[in-house]
Amino acid sequence: MKASFFRRYGGPEVLEYGELPDPVPAAGEVLVEIHATSINAADWKMRGGHYGAKMEFPHVPGRDFSGVVIKSAGDFKPGDAVFGVCEVPREGAYAEKIAIREAIVARKPEKLSHVQCAAVALTGLTALVSLEDTLKLKRGETILIQGGAGGVGGFAIALAKHLGARVIATASAANHDYVRKLGADEVIDYRTQDFTKIVKGVDAVFDTVGGDVTAKSFAVLRQGGRLASVAVGAAAPSPRPDVTSLRPKVDRDRAHLDRVAALVTQGAVPLPEITEYPLAKAGEAHRVSEGRHLRGKLVLRVRG
Ligand SMILES: NC(=O)c1ccc[n+]([C@@H]2O[C@H](COP(=O)([O-])OP(=O)(O)OC[C@H]3O[C@@H](n4cnc5c(N)ncnc54)[C@H](OP(=O)(O)O)[C@@H]3O)[C@@H](O)[C@H]2O)c1
Repeated sequence: MKASFFRRYGGPEVLEYGELPDPVPAAGEVLVEIHATSINAADWKMRGGHYGAKMEFPHVPGRDFSGVVIKSAGDFKPGDAVFGVCEVPREGAYAEKIAIREAIVARKPEKLSHVQCAAVALTGLTALVSLEDTLKLKRGETILIQGGAGGVGGFAIALAKHLGARVIATASAANHDYVRKLGADEVIDYRTQDFTKIVKGVDAVFDTVGGDVTAKSFAVLRQGGRLASVAVGAAAPSPRPDVTSLRPKVDRDRAHLDRVAALVTQGAVPLPEITEYPLAKAGEAHRVSEGRHLRGKLVLRVRG
């Protein structure tokens, strides 16, 4: 099969495009012909060796995909359109085929193309687990979403609105119209404004940026407020004893993917702005993603 892979850690230039052996599904796994896979921030962190993960080379990155079943262990039949998110540290979606545990693969909605479905798989799952399962966001609450123009942040804005929350988001000025369209009630230009001077006493913060942004975000919470960050390895240390710091545990399961698909197909969450690249140009897409100022999602077209 054709795949995009790397043989050593490094910059986007270490990504090669070429032939690799087809994956062989183990017991309980389904073999899928991939049509589209998306770029997630984890992909270039993995490629750069930032996770310190020991891996076998060549390594095929890619954590989510949409495609068509070739061989099934039982739940699906050949020809069924499915989508899924890989179980870390196993990846492998930048390829024409993937073998993956069937129980964590979901049916692709007919309404969505493979490109659209790949675009919302991991970001949707992450936003869902963070807002519903971790922060337990409730109707009427106010949430600050850091990084509203990104893949995870964008899905989270729309989901928070759907859940009945008031949403404040941070983004650079060029992305304000975009995040407003996703549902943000208030947008802060983090380049020219200090969010800690504008936002006070919110119920929850969802952080997708990390570093100083995470650390400073605790100040804007009300007493008893909650912060969840997906941009850190473990729950960020809180400087305040009266608030809670959480690290969402983004497990893979079919039920959550079904809910992501339903939210998008029912129009509760709009699709992100999608920029497509062919699989052979994965390195170019990594450069954009690694720049950290991407709007929406980048998707690699594997077929078609
Ligand atoms: N399983 C998990 O736990 C999980 C899953 C998925 C992702 N993640 C993590 O979540 C994070 C976000 O991932 P992603 O894929 O959504 O990233 P992304 O799509 O690359 O998002 C980057 C966005 O961050 C915004 N941004 C950059 N600096 C900012 C700042 N100082 N304040 C506010 N916004 C800022 C940029 O907006 P502007 O252009 O407007 O600056 C850009 O839209 C990553 O760290 C990723 O590793 C974790």
